[in-house]
Amino acid sequence: MRQKFVAGNWKMNLVYSGALALISEIADLLGPATPTDPVVVVCPPFPFLSGVGEHLPKGGSLHLGAQNCHQKESGAFTGEVAAPMLASVGCEYVILGHSERRQHFREDDALLGQKLKAALAAGLKPIFCVGESLETREADDTFDFISKQLKDGLFHLSNEEFAQVVIAYEPVWAIGTGKTATSAQAQEVHAFIREQVARAYTAAAATDVSILYGGSANAQNARELFSQPDVDGGLIGGASLKAADFVAIVRSF
Ligand code: G3P
Repeated sequence: MRQKFVAGNWKMNLVYSGALALISEIADLLGPATPTDPVVVVCPPFPFLSGVGEHLPKGGSLHLGAQNCHQKESGAFTGEVAAPMLASVGCEYVILGHSERRQHFREDDALLGQKLKAALAAGLKPIFCVGESLETREADDTFDFISKQLKDGLFHLSNEEFAQVVIAYEPVWAIGTGKTATSAQAQEVHAFIREQVARAYTAAAATDVSILYGGSANAQNARELFSQPDVDGGLIGGASLKAADFVAIVRSF
């Protein structure tokens, strides 16, 4: 079901004391949940999940997510973390297909398809990332590239499985660069993604899916981005590490 939605991807930052301080400050600044609140998700590094999860106000708008999961539910995979483990510490969401994992860990569409299935089987809601490089955009290949990521990585899911997914459009050239997509650029690609969902599934599925923007979103530009008809919220990196900025983004609808 389509929702206003803001997720904070903490990436590989902080130590435990800093993570607990950050979530406490975010919870304090957000205050008691209201019916108009967006869904707010924080995605700490694996070691902090349990501790941060314990600091989420019960029944509030704050939810716990992870930044990745293995494609198997258990086994001899030293150093890896399985989706059932994430669910067992209170995770409801998991980011999959982030460009940094596609780039640094060679995650391809076939592997991401397995990870999506593992996450869904564990009851997690995937936040599935797509986005083009600067070279692809400058070659005017953005739509073909995104369409392929969706078809090869996501559209194998059943209607019921897809209904659990949140999509995040993160132009690689905007991630961590301060070079945010314009609201027109974001709207254009979000509308294209929604159209691809309608073709692959149904018009209702396209209406219902939440599509987030990520890539140098911050307290100053979030309102303009979120005002676009097909932008349902944001997947926030750097600005999610500052409680006041992150909460300002949450309040930008
Ligand atoms: O997953 C969100 C992240 O990739 C965006 O990072 O620092 O540009 O907001 P940032």
